Amino acid sequence: MDSDSLFRRASKLFPGGVNSPVRFYSPRPIYFSRSTGTRLFDVSGKEYLDFSMGFGAVFGGYANSDILDLAMDAFANPVPEGVVSENEIILGELIHGAVPSVEMMRFTNSGTEATMHAIRLARAYTGRNIIVKMNGGFHGAHDYALIGAGSGAATFGTPTSPGIPDEVSRTVLVGEFNHRDSIEEIFSKHGRDIAAVIVEPIMGNMGVIKPEDGFLKFLREITEKYGSLLIFDEVITGFRFRYGAYQDMVNVRPDITTMGKIIGGGMPVGLFGGREEIMKNISPSGKVYQSGTFSANPYTMATGIAALKYLRTIDYEATIRLAKWVEEKLKPYAEAGIRVNRAYNMFTPFFNTQEVKDYSSAKNSDSGRFMKFFSELLRYGIYLSPGQFETSFIGPAHTPEEVEMAAFKMVYALENELNESGHKEE
Ligand SMILES: Cc1ncc(COP(=O)(O)O)c(C=O)c1O
Repeated sequence: MDSDSLFRRASKLFPGGVNSPVRFYSPRPIYFSRSTGTRLFDVSGKEYLDFSMGFGAVFGGYANSDILDLAMDAFANPVPEGVVSENEIILGELIHGAVPSVEMMRFTNSGTEATMHAIRLARAYTGRNIIVKMNGGFHGAHDYALIGAGSGAATFGTPTSPGIPDEVSRTVLVGEFNHRDSIEEIFSKHGRDIAAVIVEPIMGNMGVIKPEDGFLKFLREITEKYGSLLIFDEVITGFRFRYGAYQDMVNVRPDITTMGKIIGGGMPVGLFGGREEIMKNISPSGKVYQSGTFSANPYTMATGIAALKYLRTIDYEATIRLAKWVEEKLKPYAEAGIRVNRAYNMFTPFFNTQEVKDYSSAKNSDSGRFMKFFSELLRYGIYLSPGQFETSFIGPAHTPEEVEMAAFKMVYALENELNESGHKEE
């Protein structure tokens, strides 16, 4: 069995050979068959050190026994599907205890579902239709959020995919992350029709971009001023840098929060929650409809409880120190056009001669050079998240030795590239 023949088979079944487009990279993705800790094994048995970690979902490492033992018990002694059970309450209480703004919540099976329901709820609660999102911000693949770059900050968004009705895309306005003026302009024209601003408080889907000082507070203030809601999409950032959400690190309280990834302990999950006054509008206590056969399913609830219990025991600071180390190692290459953007324990090596601090600077990056770097690292057994606009992750399962080895190989790959291109001599 090899990746070439598997990809040929897959291509007959799945568009582009994959079940999610970000998994494809040229000429074809590597097929993996096994994982443990931070290690992936491809179908030919080659081992890789993983920094993608399931696009950030597998924070504690693969086959983490603290999580797995409880998960196995859930499979061996199943709580029924589609009924209510205590585990959903336990996980809900853990989340509410760690993220105070989430007074009430609903579990879903993906971040996509979570943001879709959060947006519908915000529209229903405010009686307004317009949603403001950030250029390059990603909140899942549903019609409400798959609106990308408009032709200007204050113009109505254009869909990122065909198939989204104009009626929907006209209800989404696209602002610029870290640019207060663009948000102010949108609010000055449409403020009283804006149901909510949805934002990743640290951008993770155009590579890592941190909010500039005060930007999130500014979003809080302007939404309050106009009676709009603020939705923090913490699908990536939730429980990643501390036992809780990022919002409490910056002291900005959103009205609604969405989460996913980490809180499922490796099982499919999503969550939207917030102020009780808003959340109680969800059916059956209110009129806003949301449902799901697999919502709060027993397997995800069991792994989620285990994951949160495990996260209470870990040293988050250690994960951050390791990511800082990668940043430091690559810092001398800024002149050669490689800049590591890091937020706590997540990082993106941008191939860019300029500082990357917003959508337009991120878009100026050289994706081709990134993919060469990515492929070279694959040869050395290092697996980064496969794309210039993706984020790589360091978690508690990574050891200092692993990160040191990976940083060394990154430097080696860059040196080789620079020597080949004669870049250094210029
Ligand atoms: C910030 C953010 N929101 C929402 C989503 C969608 O989550 P899911 O892939 O679980 O549907 C993602 C996925 O990567 C994400 O990064």
